[in-house]
Amino acid sequence: MLKFSNKFSNSRDVVVFFAGEGFAFKSKEGLFAENEEKKVRLFVKGFQNLNQKEKILSFDVNEKLKCFVVKISKKVSNSDVEELGASFCLNIKNSKKVKTIDFYPDSLNAEKNKLINYSLSFIHGFNLKSYDFNKYKTQNLENEKGFSKNLHLISSFSNEIEKKYKDLKAVEDGVFLTRDLVSEPPNILTPEHYVKEILKLKQLGLKVNVLDEKKMKNLGLNALLGVGQGSVNKSYLVSIEWNGSKNKKDKPIALVGKGVCFDTGGISLKPARFMEEMKYDMAGSAVVVGLLKTLAMRKAKANVVGVVGLVENMPGGNAQRPGDIVKSFSGKTIEILNTDAEGRLVLADALSYTENNFKPKFMIDLATLTGAIIVGLGEEYAGLFSNNDELSDKVFKSGMEVNEKVWRFPLHKNYDKLIDSTVADVQNINYSGGAGSITAAQFLQRFILNNTPWAHLDIAGMAFSKKAANLNPRGATGFGVRLLNNLIKKYYE
Ligand code: BES
Ligand code: ZN
Ligand code: ZN
Repeated sequence: MLKFSNKFSNSRDVVVFFAGEGFAFKSKEGLFAENEEKKVRLFVKGFQNLNQKEKILSFDVNEKLKCFVVKISKKVSNSDVEELGASFCLNIKNSKKVKTIDFYPDSLNAEKNKLINYSLSFIHGFNLKSYDFNKYKTQNLENEKGFSKNLHLISSFSNEIEKKYKDLKAVEDGVFLTRDLVSEPPNILTPEHYVKEILKLKQLGLKVNVLDEKKMKNLGLNALLGVGQGSVNKSYLVSIEWNGSKNKKDKPIALVGKGVCFDTGGISLKPARFMEEMKYDMAGSAVVVGLLKTLAMRKAKANVVGVVGLVENMPGGNAQRPGDIVKSFSGKTIEILNTDAEGRLVLADALSYTENNFKPKFMIDLATLTGAIIVGLGEEYAGLFSNNDELSDKVFKSGMEVNEKVWRFPLHKNYDKLIDSTVADVQNINYSGGAGSITAAQFLQRFILNNTPWAHLDIAGMAFSKKAANLNPRGATGFGVRLLNNLIKKYYE
């Protein structure tokens, strides 16, 4: 729980405060008792003499009080301070003793605006890192379910910080929704259950429209339907609209997400080892859903529509076969050579449908599309593909600013020959010729029919991590929500 105040707490287990170069800091009455402050100053002084590189100092003031001093260097960026907040969180996260934390930023000798920004970044990083997904643990929880620390921000600018924090809270809640959806096991988060979760967002003023299989059949979304036909769980296409622009008729920004709730590979079955990871094959869609929650919560002044294709890719008596030909919504026919290249089939229909139905200013899709992108970029950058340099630059910059990095790959007509089919308009994979992630993107591009500016983010390496990273614990990361939120805020509001 987060509280903003200008008074120190009566009982606190931890005090954390900002300091400048050399850990210099200003104190304030009430921050410490006299004897405590003496100890703190002595410790900091001793440390200064050691000339260490550390950014956070910690020590016990007495058996009931622990103190953290966070060094804010002159050239620090907001992202750096977010990371300091996250690493502070990591320090106290698993300590059962820590219940209440007093956070005092005013101790830093800096101007008001800087103090406000640093405080916000520190809290934001702290909160993003505090995320836990343990709802299925019934044992060994030591009476504590989830993260339950009280963080008290104490500052003479607490009112302003509290007001500005509202937008960041919207981002946190969007990221947490994305992480929750990605973390849910596939027996729980079936496409149908997923639809119900999305419908809950109507409470925030979002307009939700659900296409079931019957409606999709009538519209001709056969590429998407083909992927789900082997599963007993029905497929859906859901659109979520946020109309926050002053001009209600403003063309919307469209975000499209791959929502394969589980990807077994279908008849082109995946190997058993690590197949469980394919529960996160719906992460692209979860980013879209999380982002729309953020936009609604912070009442973004933009028109945005999210479209997610929700299916389960299973083998079965009625499953799609390698060799099948389907007619997509665009009218183009697709020869299925490998049923494991299913994400592009879902997105093909979702993209043409979105372009046709919403006439967006531009579209960005997000998908855990290819294993090849992990070979190329690992867990550091998402792959970016685009038919438009301006949009591509904006996506790149927006990502850099929030440390959700993307790297552009090429699209080129010469790759087309790798996916031209001998019997249909296009085939869903190439067995030779390499460039797995590019051919997948080149395939998607064929389903954009009116030259709408479009960018594709292949987030297969970014959506889920076995290791913790700066702002997230291990597991679902929520990668993409902060990037897209920043893009919209920076360029379109
Ligand atoms: N969902 C996978 C891609 C993926 C792999 C995501 C690893 C996250 C981690 C996708 O549907 C897939 O199976 N792609 C195949 C394509 C191939 C059959 C051309 C792949 O990457 O191996
Ligand atoms: Zn697949
Ligand atoms: Zn997949």
